[in-house]
Amino acid sequence: MCGIVGYVGAGDAVSVLVEGLSRLEYRGYDSAGVAVLNGRGVETRKLAGRIADLRDLLARDPVHGSCGIGHTRWATHGAPTERNAHPHIDCTGSLALVHNGIIENANVLRRRLEQDGHDFRTETDTETLIHLIEESPGTTLEARVIAALEHVEGTYGIAVVAEADRRKIVVARRGSPVLLGVGDGEFLIASDASALLGHTRSVVHLNDGDVAVVTADGYRILDREAREQDRVVEDIEWDLDAIALGDYPHFMLKEICEQANTVRSTLRGRLLAADGTARLNGLNLTARQCSRIRRIVIVACGTSWHAGLVGRHVIEELSGIPVSVEYASEYRYRRQLRLPGTVTLAISQSGETADTLEALRAAKATGSTVLGLVNVVGSTIAREAEGGIYLHAGPEIGVASTKAFTAQVVALLLLGLYLGRQRGLSVQEGRALVGQLLALPQLVERTLAIESEVRSLAARFADAPNALYLGRGLSFPVALEGALKLKEISYIHAEGYPAAEMKHGPIALIDENMPVVCLAPRDPLYTKVVSAMQEVKARGGRIIAITTEGPDDLGHLADHQIAVPAAAPLLSPVLTVIPLQLLAYHIAVLRGCDVDRPRNLAKSVTVE
Ligand code: F6R
Repeated sequence: MCGIVGYVGAGDAVSVLVEGLSRLEYRGYDSAGVAVLNGRGVETRKLAGRIADLRDLLARDPVHGSCGIGHTRWATHGAPTERNAHPHIDCTGSLALVHNGIIENANVLRRRLEQDGHDFRTETDTETLIHLIEESPGTTLEARVIAALEHVEGTYGIAVVAEADRRKIVVARRGSPVLLGVGDGEFLIASDASALLGHTRSVVHLNDGDVAVVTADGYRILDREAREQDRVVEDIEWDLDAIALGDYPHFMLKEICEQANTVRSTLRGRLLAADGTARLNGLNLTARQCSRIRRIVIVACGTSWHAGLVGRHVIEELSGIPVSVEYASEYRYRRQLRLPGTVTLAISQSGETADTLEALRAAKATGSTVLGLVNVVGSTIAREAEGGIYLHAGPEIGVASTKAFTAQVVALLLLGLYLGRQRGLSVQEGRALVGQLLALPQLVERTLAIESEVRSLAARFADAPNALYLGRGLSFPVALEGALKLKEISYIHAEGYPAAEMKHGPIALIDENMPVVCLAPRDPLYTKVVSAMQEVKARGGRIIAITTEGPDDLGHLADHQIAVPAAAPLLSPVLTVIPLQLLAYHIAVLRGCDVDRPRNLAKSVTVE
């Protein structure tokens, strides 16, 4: 959740670090800092605030050097203050460290280190690491880091510099991502590829347990016994334009508006029209393995979990394989059942979500085949899964996930089609679905044209303290997703419910002040949702209906209607979610909320 950057080379480390941190700011942003080595010891500059504030501080109080580390923080242990901001230094002021993750035995370590005379200056769990390295034996910094990490429980991605070794950064990871950027006469490290792109597109992903020694002349990767490891250099697929805001006021709006293209790119090269199926080579499943699947367990968090709920309908409908959808955080701590024929599918935009990763590992330990449905290429989940589907949606910067959701649903449709065709779905049915999928990007484009209509609607509801979202079948997960979008960026309390469940409790909340967003695409459950709308209307609730273009038969019930183009029922979530994304966005803007940096949230939750 925090961001880490490091630089060693011939250039000015500070400008590279600040540029990299500004690209990571969307991950965590309550404080920031840098430390550089320049012959005058370890010099740090840090503060509670954003990267723009760090730039101002560095303009007032400059520091330079050709080797350094930087950090942008999302507070877990200790308030977001200057003192708690990273980098942290040891008692002698000759070592500095930045950390992403959580040290679970920090209290025990701290008590022991304080008894040994170490002087703690912060409330963070991270500070224990730097004192541990300070007292660890070893003739090199890497030897001391390896020795120190022996005592640590928890997760970390760390970068450490030492005054004694002015041209070296030592990096280690367990549970938090770290990449090396391979440049020309310069090397970088970062927790996310976007921080490296200004300098290089060649990256090396570190594995859990790796320790890397990075100097201006090259890098070495070691395991815990200091044995050298080989890791491949890979190319980042996208460029700086993909993470630029362009003419948009916010990344969230940019990413909502990109969805026709992202859906196109998730589908690209994967539809086989004549055979009526999908080509998913990355799954690494033979036809024989597919025929032996007895159940699929989807593990995910947040928006990805909502996509998983859509996936359950889609896969069961197309292939007849039973699917269960689990919150990764709950699944990982339950007794894992060893059931032959189980495929576990981890869905994650970032590919780094700690709970989803651990759920995948737990499933793997039971002998389940583990697959990933991931956006970030080379991420930990992508590398630990035995196969999977990349979303190819491009980098998602907005903290509220939008284009990843629609890409996930499309990838799940591809998976359903692929499995279905191996298990009884006829070629005609397959071809019909291929045709519908090929037409989907255009329908998304047409749906996006409703933006101004949604903006006017947002003005009417921007002051509402609560909202209810109702849907059935495939639209129930869309209702959950609409409610999540609204609460996370506008801070309005919102609940998503299966429409028929409303009468079992939530109906008590309905009065003339309660906006109720009803998902009513014309699918087989349409008339059932209309009944729920009647119940809301009878109690004075204000109804916003999301429906499909066609005859207006909701006029007597709905106070407002937004119609999306008609699509085959299985595809409708990709369209009906768009007005909900736009509604949440415009309400948040009208309320003056910082849409791309919602309070308390960070992209990519790499801690439990
Ligand atoms: C909501 C949101 C989160 C993420 C969740 C999982 O807008 O972004 O709920 O969906 O943290 O993240 P990934 O998909 O990266 O595993």
